[in-house]
Amino acid sequence: NQIIFYDVIDSTNKRAKELAAEGAIHGTLVVANEQTDGKGRYGRSFESPKNTGVYMSLIIRPQELTYNEPTTVTAYAAVVVSNVIEELTGKKIGIKWVNDLFYNEKKICGILTEAVTDFESGQIEWIVLGIGLNISTSDTVFSEEVKQKAGSIFKENEISINRNKLVATLLEELLTAHKELSITDLMARYKEKSIVLNKNVMIQQGQESYKVKVIDIDDQGQLIIETQSGNRKKFSSGEIRII
Ligand code: BTN
Repeated sequence: NQIIFYDVIDSTNKRAKELAAEGAIHGTLVVANEQTDGKGRYGRSFESPKNTGVYMSLIIRPQELTYNEPTTVTAYAAVVVSNVIEELTGKKIGIKWVNDLFYNEKKICGILTEAVTDFESGQIEWIVLGIGLNISTSDTVFSEEVKQKAGSIFKENEISINRNKLVATLLEELLTAHKELSITDLMARYKEKSIVLNKNVMIQQGQESYKVKVIDIDDQGQLIIETQSGNRKKFSSGEIRII
C-alpha cells in the first residue's frame, strides 16, 4: 500500500479525493501531522492542530470490501477505529451515532466518508474515509466553541502512544477486519459500543428539535426512535444530542 505523508496539508480528504479521481488504488492512505483546512460533516471545519493528533484519509474501492454502502463503511470505520484505540490504549471508547467516537464524554474522533458514484453504472467508484483523532491534544489549542465538546484520548502530560504504530494498525485493520465481519456482526458490535442506544436524545430536523428515545439501530445504521407520543420512526440522517 502506498502511504503519502504530509507534515502540513489543507485537508487529507481533499488530497485523497484528488488521488482517487486520478486512479489511486484501494488502500492508498494520506496522513498528515497538521491540517489547515480540515473538514467535518455538514461543511463544518475540523480543528487539526499540529503533532497531537492523527489526520488520515483512506481510499477505498468498494469492490475490494465486503460492504459497499457508504453508511455501512462509516459504521465499519467507527467500530474498527474504536477497537484499535481500545486495544492499543486500554481506554474504553463509545460511538455516538453516526460516527463520532467518545472518550470520557468528549468527542475524540470524527469520521467523514465521501463517495463518488459512476453516473452511467450507478456504482460507487471510490470512497474516501477521513479519520481525525485527537490523541494528546491539550484543549487549550482548541477554539472556545470546540473546547466544550472535544477531548483527547490522553491528557496533556500522560504518556501517549506511538502515532506511527497507531496509523499502521488502523490501516491494517481497516483493510482486513471486514473479511471476518458480516454486516450483522458489524452492526451488533456497533450497537454494543453505542452511547445513544436506550437513551433519550434530542433530534434536529430542519428548525425543529424533538425529544425521542433511541430504541434500536438497524442494519442500515438507521436509528429506530420512539417519539413522546409513543410512535416509532426511523431516523436516517441528521444530528442528535444526548440529554
Ligand atoms: C466530523 O467530525 O464531522 C468528521 C471529521 C473528520 C475529520 C477528518 S481529519 C482527516 C480527514 N480530512 C479532513 O479534512 N477531514 C477528515
